[in-house]
Amino acid sequence: MSQADPLPLPPGRGGPPIIGETLRFLKDGLGFVERGVAEHGPVFRTSLLGKKAAVISGPEATALFNDETRVARRGGMPPNVQTLFAGEVLPALDGEAHRERKHFVLSAFSHEALESYVPKIRAHARRTLAAIAARGETQALPELQRFTLATILDLMLDVSEGPTIEQLLADYPRIIDGLIALPVPLPGTAYTRAKKALARALAAFGAEVERHRAAPRDDGLGRILAARSPRDGRAITDEEAKGELHHVVIAGFIVWCWLVSVFKEIGRRPELFGKLRAEALALPPDAGFSAIDAAPLMSHAMMEVMRHTPVLPIVFGKAATEITFEGHRIPKGWMILWGWSSSHHEPSVYRDPASFDPERFAPPRSEHAQHPCAFAPQGSGDVARTHKCVGYELAPLMAKVFVLELLRGYEVQVPEQDWSFDKARLPPAPRSRVLVRLGAR
Ligand code: HEM
Repeated sequence: MSQADPLPLPPGRGGPPIIGETLRFLKDGLGFVERGVAEHGPVFRTSLLGKKAAVISGPEATALFNDETRVARRGGMPPNVQTLFAGEVLPALDGEAHRERKHFVLSAFSHEALESYVPKIRAHARRTLAAIAARGETQALPELQRFTLATILDLMLDVSEGPTIEQLLADYPRIIDGLIALPVPLPGTAYTRAKKALARALAAFGAEVERHRAAPRDDGLGRILAARSPRDGRAITDEEAKGELHHVVIAGFIVWCWLVSVFKEIGRRPELFGKLRAEALALPPDAGFSAIDAAPLMSHAMMEVMRHTPVLPIVFGKAATEITFEGHRIPKGWMILWGWSSSHHEPSVYRDPASFDPERFAPPRSEHAQHPCAFAPQGSGDVARTHKCVGYELAPLMAKVFVLELLRGYEVQVPEQDWSFDKARLPPAPRSRVLVRLGAR
């Protein structure tokens, strides 16, 4: 190749016109990315819903994905996905508009806010565990899902029961199912059901915004409404607040995936959970965010849960300019799909990446320290300036409080079961639906 020759496009197939590889992706997004990376390496091309796309994976890909001069977010999501995320919300904004919105939303996730949320998370965890224990050997998945959704709603809106909560509990799984359905706008399709569910959720959030404006409170929404723009001192608008609430609730809901991994690994690694129990019992029963966050065994176990659990196949972006990556050229305007799960199974960073091994995060191994973006299950960089998750501390806190209550209060039996994941669902759930038996200690 002479110096004037352009770099080649990424390897890959792309599939037939328009539909491209959409159906293969929707059937098993995690497997689709995993197989592509195994075959082609850290960048390959595909085509989804009529758009050309480059899938990128690994720590360098994570760094690229967070460089807004090269990867934009506006226009990155397919239109049906953006519709179900309620349009112009944080992951679809760039530049100053993104920073300003992020400032509003982050005010619900300050350290002081997180400390104030712990008693509520603990109360929900205790109620959930008591309900699971009361049923003897049981499929715990529905209770785990109820726990995460009811908790995030309570933290944000200060409502823990009643018809609004029941409606949202019914509607969020519908909205998520719509995200991986073909966008067929006909009566009765999963996509149409999801749009109707979203309209009901946004109406409920509209009523909550009104209620909170009328009588300010210090829950998550109250904090967001009280924040003022660093640019011009304005408050968030009602429309913006409804959309951001929706995103926070959908994201808080998926924390259940990590709890699935906790039960799966308790069954396989009883000695590890024995040590975790000793650490849990050494903490005061009313330990707050800082104390829980500082517990080292729990911290490494949760990092491994976050690295190891299949939650998302990809996150969406768009090439803001022509990108050179790993000897390939990605044209301006292509979709950029950051391989979220594959980046955390990168064998050059994580030894035996398929195994569950919390000690990989402890010194002297500290495998994640090899690259600043090697461990980014909730994005990387400065949370106020990048697209890093606003729940990067809250999400693990919710899971840790649940595990602490579990270890402090219960003996856990995990029968033999089919832990294989149904990868056509988002997020994937195990086919056994988490069979457990909890006995009081
Ligand atoms: C299983 C739990 C969670 C996972 C795996 C997760 C993961 C992620 C990832 C990968 C991103 C994108 C990072 C990027 O684009 O660079 C993100 C963004 C975001 N997450 Fe989470 N998250 C979780 C829970 C939460 C929770 C509990 C909340 C809120 C309470 C939340 C709110 C958000 C928001 C608002 C963004 C967009 C930030 C932005 O674009 O600036 N997430 N999350």
